[in-house]
Amino acid sequence: MIDIMKMVKARTYMKRNEPFLYSWHAYVGYELDLFKAFERPMTQFDVADALELDEQLLAQWVAIGVSIGYLKETGRNRYQIKNRWKLPKSKGNNSSGVLLKEMMELHIPTLLEYPKMMRNQSRLHFDEDEHASTVAETSRLLEVLAYPKMAKRLKEKDCRRVLDIGCGEGGYIKKLGQRFPTTQFTGIEISEEVVEKAKELTANQNNVSIEQADLWNYKPESPQDMVMLNNVLHYIPLEKRQALFKEISSWIAPGGIFSVVTPIAGGPDSPPFANVFNSFFSSFDNLYRLPKREEVIEWGEESDLEILSLRTVIKEGGWYIVQYEKKSESAR
Ligand SMILES: C[S@@+](CC[C@H](N)C(=O)[O-])C[C@H]1O[C@@H](n2cnc3c(N)ncnc32)[C@H](O)[C@@H]1O
Repeated sequence: MIDIMKMVKARTYMKRNEPFLYSWHAYVGYELDLFKAFERPMTQFDVADALELDEQLLAQWVAIGVSIGYLKETGRNRYQIKNRWKLPKSKGNNSSGVLLKEMMELHIPTLLEYPKMMRNQSRLHFDEDEHASTVAETSRLLEVLAYPKMAKRLKEKDCRRVLDIGCGEGGYIKKLGQRFPTTQFTGIEISEEVVEKAKELTANQNNVSIEQADLWNYKPESPQDMVMLNNVLHYIPLEKRQALFKEISSWIAPGGIFSVVTPIAGGPDSPPFANVFNSFFSSFDNLYRLPKREEVIEWGEESDLEILSLRTVIKEGGWYIVQYEKKSESAR
């Protein structure tokens, strides 16, 4: 009886883990550009040869692809992609594959360190240089959803000067800069590599400038009509967040906007990913837990920032956009 239970449990774990294969397959395909290679019917030999890959391992990847319906055999030892809409686009096309890359190279290996970290009461260190580009690119996937909410405020308030703190590849200010050509946009970003990329992507826009700067040593030259802080709060130690809100508030002109995109810490009834994020951030000695809903409201209240809205961007990830208005002198 006990042996049967053991078998049942083992089978359940295996079954539960099956979806991992889809992510793994898509990740490898994205990383090595294999879906593009098999766009037309190709033999494994030709692909291995053209991309200089190990043929035996490629054959394994193809076999799994066939079994999960991402590839099909087309005869004469040739294979081709199937269900194209389910597969990530190739690299550099704002592909969803970058999320797989972040998950597989960063999140899953981190979660697997839990036993060691718990035993040793230790933490990992988040390697900015290694991951900054991937993380900046993944955050851009949210742009489509969060952008309209920023554009709306910008228009409403007829903002002349906008600052984006931790702008990453500058996706938001690039788009906003095109839509609002008479507004001046500045992005600051700490990572040199990411700054280079942002500069390259906004090179032909006169109203967008990118500076390499640490937000802790920065102060804008003149008051801003809107300041954005998108997906940066988990880089800020807990005890410094209130002070940061106060500092940023002092950079905003009365009536101006402070716009924050962040996942908010989940509770027991939130979607699992909202909680997983915190397990991930908590694994590093230089990343910090997500804010709670009450905190986001309180930090605003303490900084002359009146909350205008707190809305979801992606429900599954517990992602929110929070927007505040800087109180005018008389309202304080
Ligand atoms: C997750 S990315 C978000 C990028 C972009 N804001 C977005 O939402 O698409 C966070 C960015 O903040 C930058 N960053 C972290 N700490 C910073 C600091 N102290 N000063 C300036 N930028 C910082 C990181 O290098 C990274 O590119």
